[in-house]
Amino acid sequence: MILGKKPEQRGRPHITVVLAMSLDGKIADVRRSPARFGSPRDKAHLEARFAEADGVLFGAATLRAYGTTLPLTHPNLLQQRQDEGRSPQPVHIVCSRTAEFDPDLRFFRQPVPRWLLTTPTGGDRWQSRTEFDRIFALPATPTGLDWRQALADLTQAGIRRLVLAGGGELVAALVAADAVDELWLTVCPLLLGGRDAPTPVGGDGWLEAAAPRLELLSAEAIAQEVFLHYRLHRAAD
Ligand SMILES: NC(=O)c1ccc[n+]([C@@H]2O[C@H](COP(=O)([O-])OP(=O)(O)OC[C@H]3O[C@@H](n4cnc5c(N)ncnc54)[C@H](OP(=O)(O)O)[C@@H]3O)[C@@H](O)[C@H]2O)c1
Repeated sequence: MILGKKPEQRGRPHITVVLAMSLDGKIADVRRSPARFGSPRDKAHLEARFAEADGVLFGAATLRAYGTTLPLTHPNLLQQRQDEGRSPQPVHIVCSRTAEFDPDLRFFRQPVPRWLLTTPTGGDRWQSRTEFDRIFALPATPTGLDWRQALADLTQAGIRRLVLAGGGELVAALVAADAVDELWLTVCPLLLGGRDAPTPVGGDGWLEAAAPRLELLSAEAIAQEVFLHYRLHRAAD
C-alpha cells in the first residue's frame, strides 16, 4: 500500500483498482458473465486487497453480473483487522446512477455493510428500505456523479482506503477524475476475445498523447498467472 499525502489532506480516499484480466485484455466474456477465471491464488490476492481497505467500490453492472460480493473469510485477515481495531468487513459500496437492482440478489443477504453511491433519483428507490445501510445521493453530472463530492463524502464517512473492484466503466470514470492511485492486474491464461467484451478501462478512452501513464511497482509470476502492480502518475497530488 502506497500512501503519499494523507487522504484527509486530499479530500479523497486512496484508491486501488484490483482486476483480473484474460491474456487478451478482457475482464469478462462477451456476454459480460461474472468473471470466475482467476485461480484460487488470485481469489486470495483479491481477498487480501479487500482486507487492507475500509471500503470496496464496484459498478452496478458488476453487481448485476455476480449478484454477490466477496466477504472476508480468511481467519488471518479477520484477525489482523481485529488486532488493528477495524471492523471485520470493509463496507461494500455500489455505484449506480439508476440504482435499479433486484432486492432478492444474494448480495443483500451477505454479512457485509452495504452503502449506495447514486443520484437523488436512485436514492429515492431505496430510501425507505433496509438493504443499504447508508445512501449517498449526489448531484448527477454529464459523466455520471460529481466525483469530487462523492469522494469527499466517503472520506468524511471514514473511508481512507478504497479498493475499486471494477468494472471497466467505473474504473474509467475514476481514472478520468484523476482519483486512482494504484492498479493491481492479474493476467490469467485464457483468451476471451469479442470486440464488445469489457476491458479494465472502458469509457470513451484517451488519445495516446493524453493517456494516463503508470509506473510498474512489481511483477510476479505465480503458477500460470502474472500479478502486476502499478502506480498511476496523477495530475494532482
Ligand atoms: N475480471 C474482473 O476482475 C472483473 C471485476 C469486476 C467486474 N468484472 C466484469 O465486468 C463486467 C461489468 O463491467 P462494466 O464495465 O460493464 O460495468 P461496471 O463498471 O461494473 O458498471 C457500470 C455501471 O455502473 C454505474 N456507473 C459507472 N460509472 C458511473 C459513474 N461515473 N457515475 C455513476 N454511475 C456509474 C452505472 O450504473 P447504472 O447503469 O445502474 O446507472 C453503469 O451502468 C461484468 O461482466 C463483470 O463480470 C470483471
